[in-house]
Amino acid sequence: MKILVTGGAGFIGSHTTLALLEAGHDVVVVDSLANSDVESLRRVSDLSKKTLTFRELDLLDVESLAEVFTETIFDAVVHFAGLKAVGESVTSPLLYYRNNVVGTLNLLDAMIEAGVKTFVFSSSATVYGDSDALPLTEGTPLGATNAYGRTKEQLEGILTDLVASDPAMSVAILRYFNPVGAHESGRIGEDPRGTPNNLLPFVAQVAVGRHEKVSIYGDDYDTPDGTGVRDYIHVMDLAEGHLAALDFLMSQKGVFRWNLGTGNGSSVLEVIRAFERAVGRNLPYAVAARRPGDSAMSFADSSAAKRDLGWSATRDLDQMCADHWRWQNTNPEGYTTSK
Ligand code: NAD
Ligand code: WQD
Repeated sequence: MKILVTGGAGFIGSHTTLALLEAGHDVVVVDSLANSDVESLRRVSDLSKKTLTFRELDLLDVESLAEVFTETIFDAVVHFAGLKAVGESVTSPLLYYRNNVVGTLNLLDAMIEAGVKTFVFSSSATVYGDSDALPLTEGTPLGATNAYGRTKEQLEGILTDLVASDPAMSVAILRYFNPVGAHESGRIGEDPRGTPNNLLPFVAQVAVGRHEKVSIYGDDYDTPDGTGVRDYIHVMDLAEGHLAALDFLMSQKGVFRWNLGTGNGSSVLEVIRAFERAVGRNLPYAVAARRPGDSAMSFADSSAAKRDLGWSATRDLDQMCADHWRWQNTNPEGYTTSK
């Protein structure tokens, strides 16, 4: 198939682009490089020994977007492009609504104009807000608690309305839990700009000496060891989930929602211990105050994806940490100063 991948230079997009190329698809990537480095795509090309087409383009640039759809007739669009920093979305909500919601509307307009009917959307477990109905199923009521999460929730609603208006469309809404890890080669991985907000990249940067210690945001939650529990999922499992969803959409019309998680929760302390095993030494950490807005626990019921897609995550927390560490250790400053 010919597939348009938006945001394909980013963390999840680059790993999924690699999986798509390895599965024999032709890929065109569009990305504004607002939060990524085009070096990721050079490496994806190296690893797959295949070429891909890259266009530096912002989804807010309607004219350039239309050109992409006139140059190639796509079978499907996989849409990763978006801003994802929760804190920034709270201080700059309009930036998030414009970039994520308006950007997606522009993409859908261009797609519909070109007659493309198959769409895979990066949603997030964040749409469940701080629901304590665990495990979270696709039927758990939504209730995002910040502007970033609301862009995802609104886009899910927009996609549902769109499919209702055109029954010939096939749309997959994939709700990712906590994506971590890196391709097993260590050549591509997560390269956050500035200080990472997320746990794994921060722990990895402590291990490589970029920060003094990990701050554990609270050890008095109602969880087995008091620290927050999340459903971490290896980015390559996530990438494979996209291939399974695309495959499903080839024979089914409608809008479908799937959680992509492992179904297992791990605490902050368990993550630090697993990362220590990967690195082979202890890492410095200290307990700090709870982070405002954090919930105690979040993990998926991932049975719907297994039932419908035949997909389930196969890589465990130790592999996530080993692969994340291989990437961080050989690329201590990310793509810019890689060995
Ligand atoms: P990322 O920032 O690494 O990748 C997103 C890419 O989109 C970046 O390369 C960025 O430059 C690009 N982009 C942003 N706005 C754009 C625009 N207007 N036009 C063109 N390109 C644009 O993030 P990621 O972790 O790979 O996330 C990919 C998607 O998955 C996002 O939609 C994110 O919200 C969603 N998601 C991520 C997580 C996570 O924890 N990483 C969890 C759930 C959902
Ligand atoms: C995980 C756990 C923290 C950092 C966020 C977004 C969500 C989604 C994924 C996109 C929590 C604890 C963290 C640190 C810590 N993104 N922690 N010290 O909060 O589950 O989700 O990323 O859709 O929208 O909200 O992930 O990695 O930030 O935190 O103790 O330095 O680690 O309190 O328990 P989270 P996270």
